[in-house]
Amino acid sequence: MARKRVAILISGRGSNMAALIDAAKDESYPAEIALVVSNRPDAGGLERAKESGIETAVVDHAPFGADREGFERALQAVLDAHNIEIVCLAGFMRLLTPFFVGRWSERMLNIHPSLLPSFKGLDTHEHAIAAGVKIHGATVHFVVPKVDSGPILAQAAVPVLAGDDADALAARVLTAEHKIYPTALRLLAEGRVTIVDGRCIVDAQGETSLLALSAIPNPTPREP
Ligand code: GRF
Repeated sequence: MARKRVAILISGRGSNMAALIDAAKDESYPAEIALVVSNRPDAGGLERAKESGIETAVVDHAPFGADREGFERALQAVLDAHNIEIVCLAGFMRLLTPFFVGRWSERMLNIHPSLLPSFKGLDTHEHAIAAGVKIHGATVHFVVPKVDSGPILAQAAVPVLAGDDADALAARVLTAEHKIYPTALRLLAEGRVTIVDGRCIVDAQGETSLLALSAIPNPTPREP
């Protein structure tokens, strides 16, 4: 089966992007990273993608001002030009309108640094520490018009340890993010995900545990 053509949308350093690129280096992986697009010309992830030989593009949101759909039409044109089939948001810091989200319905994933539906929005690690939760984590979900609310495809949990500050907790969560995002994309690209009543049904056979990671032995941190 042909590998699915994936675009990763970034705004920053791109460590999740790098995890997806690494996974897709394996030819048996069912998706190829055909394009990385940033809405910020200075995103560190752009260099990282180029170093891996991945094509990059910048669609700067700034000239569009408040015209969100105008920005999205420009973005869509770039994705169309590259025959993209799946979009992965990875630290992409733009709110998307129903126009763009509808265009990519059930074909666009996001990774969010909390166990959704807890701690939607920004500063999730600060909020988790302030709430005193003992378990925190990350979620890969489909993108719907409402922010951080789409069907959940994969989650990973990590402990919140005494003395954690937001940075320490973020680093632990990030290690988990780098594991679940490639797994989630693989299952989508293999056509093993169905959405029923807003929930993901996954034909994952032996891989169910990968969709709900909680024990992460000997994590090897990726450079942030
Ligand atoms: C990650 O924590 C991701 O969950 C959130 O933004 C951060 C992006 O980090 N959406 P990176 O650019 O992938 O390193």
